[in-house]
Parts: sequence; structure tokens; C-alpha cells
Amino acid sequence: MKVLGVSGSPRKEGVSGVHKLVKTVLENTGCEYELISLRGKKISGCIACLGCAKDNICKVKDDMTELREKIAEADAYVIGAPNYYSTLNGITHAFLERWFQFRHQERDTLWGKLGVAVGVGGKTGIFPVNEIEKFFMYSFIETAAKVVGQGAAACYSCGYGETCKVGVPYFMYGEGVKITPEIIPDVSKQPDVVRAAADAGKLLGERLKNNDRGAVTGKMQKKMQEKMQEMIEHSA
Ligand SMILES: Cc1cc2nc3c(=O)[nH]c(=O)nc-3n(C[C@H](O)[C@H](O)[C@H](O)COP(=O)(O)O)c2cc1C
Repeated sequence: MKVLGVSGSPRKEGVSGVHKLVKTVLENTGCEYELISLRGKKISGCIACLGCAKDNICKVKDDMTELREKIAEADAYVIGAPNYYSTLNGITHAFLERWFQFRHQERDTLWGKLGVAVGVGGKTGIFPVNEIEKFFMYSFIETAAKVVGQGAAACYSCGYGETCKVGVPYFMYGEGVKITPEIIPDVSKQPDVVRAAADAGKLLGERLKNNDRGAVTGKMQKKMQEKMQEMIEHSA
């Protein structure tokens, strides 16, 4: 069983909370894995050209081209993204939009596989986690576990964090905040979060031992239908 991990953070490995948590999940699966970082990659969003409709291969030539085969071959995914403006950051969204290429003519390249969603935010990572889960659902991938952490917003290191009135330190600690290492959030200092990531990896590894892709596909199809119904009712 092979697990593909993707860190959608544009920050360097050493400082990215997303990277740390995705790695922790992967290390605990007990499976063969590969961890890819989207940092520095050039990946555009889907351009709706329908070039993939016939053969399920995206025709946009950028760094996504080399990732297609890895996505197709993996048995499970650990996808992590930072919270930007209460949603996924741009490159992770673009990366997941491009999974559109696998959808046509009821191809089941992704159906019934398993996923873990990881999100990190200056305040919370729940928004990207929920978005990743939604993308998984569109491909009938079941989210086996979710991991949410708090990371260091750029405001802690931009140089203006102690005085800037729109910065995270000011929002969190108010007027006169002093930025010290103790107040800078880091997922490594959050034992519950690190444990949740390790547990998510173990669970994924266990589930992969006998994953019935047909059954998972059926379950996710049903879930998708319910969600669609909910959306129709909400927009009425
Ligand atoms: C453009 C931008 C927008 C952000 N918006 C939010 C936000 O709405 N909510 C939040 O909790 N954190 C926000 N953050 C903070 C990041 O989510 C935080 O720095 C997180 O630790 C990033 O994860 P990483 O270290 O793996 O890159 C934002 C950061 C940037 C650069």
C-alpha cells in the first residue's frame, strides 16, 4: 500500500506546521509513502478546457503533469494546507481543482480510496480541513481522519507584529504585545495535535490493510447525494 502525502504550504519545511503534521501522519501509517511539497511549484487552477474529457489526462502543462501518475497510483492521500482567509491557500486549491481530470466517463481511478485532511492556521486549521474533505468527497475518497493545528502566522516574524493593528499577535494579545518564543504557536508544542496526527496515521494504516474500495465508493456516493440534496434545499 502506498500513501501520497502533499504539503500545500509555500513555506520552508522547517517552519511549516502543515509539513510537520503531514509528515507525522505519514510516518505513523506503517506503509510506504512519499511526501511532496507544493512549495515553489507552478500549478494553475483548472481552466475548464475539457481537454481531459476523452482520456482523463489534463492538457495544461505545468508542475501538475509530473504529479498525475503519483496521484493515480497511490492507495491513500494525506493532504495538508494552511488556512488563508478562512479557506484553502491558493496552490492547494489549484492542485485539487486539477483532480477534475480523473472524473470523466465514470473513471474510478480515485474512487473508494482513503484520505486524511490536515489544516493549520494562525488561529485554526479547520477551514482548509473541511475544504480538503469536500474535495475528497467529490472523488468518492473517504476522509478517514482530520488533523487541525495552530501555526505561526507570518505576523510573528514580519518585524511589525508588536505594533501592527491588523496583525495576529495584536488580535490575540492586544495592545503592547511582546513577541517572545513562548507565544509563537508551533504545532510541535501542541501534544494533542501531534498525537492526533500520529493516531490519524495509525488509523489510515489499519484501514488500508483491508480497504474495500467498492464499499467505500458506495458510501461516498450516498454521502455525495445527501450533500447535493442539502445544497439544493439551501439554495431554494
Ligand atoms: C495570505 C495569508 C492569509 C492568512 N489567513 C489566515 C486566516 O484567515 N486564518 C488563520 O487562522 N490564519 C491565517 N493565516 C496564517 C496561516 O494559516 C499560518 O501562518 C499557518 O501557520 C500557515 O501554515 P504553514 O506554517 O504550514 O505554512 C494566513 C496567512 C497568510 C500568508
